[in-house]
Amino acid sequence: MPDLVRICLESELPREGEVCEMAGGRLCVARVGGEIAVLDNVCPHDEGPLGQGMIEDGRVVCPYHGWAFDVKTGAALHDPEAKAHIYESVVKDGELWVRPPDRSS
Ligand code: FES
Repeated sequence: MPDLVRICLESELPREGEVCEMAGGRLCVARVGGEIAVLDNVCPHDEGPLGQGMIEDGRVVCPYHGWAFDVKTGAALHDPEAKAHIYESVVKDGELWVRPPDRSS
């Protein structure tokens, strides 16, 4: 399993109810209910940039066609089989750390 990778300072994270892009546009970082969630920035519908979307009812909403994704499971509201990838992440020592995908298998 790959090691955690440092993404940014805690002070750079979005505020409650906001979403942004990180890691050169590869990640979508959201703060919902006081928790940080890290999703793949590429929407599974048609590759919209989730980090340019918004938070609505606790979900990340894609700016292209409005699909809404649960920040814990990545499941789309209208179709739980359609999922945005969720990355394991932790905020520690004032920094956000994310585990990249395991490409070894
Ligand atoms: S590209 Fe995201 S909803 Fe269509």
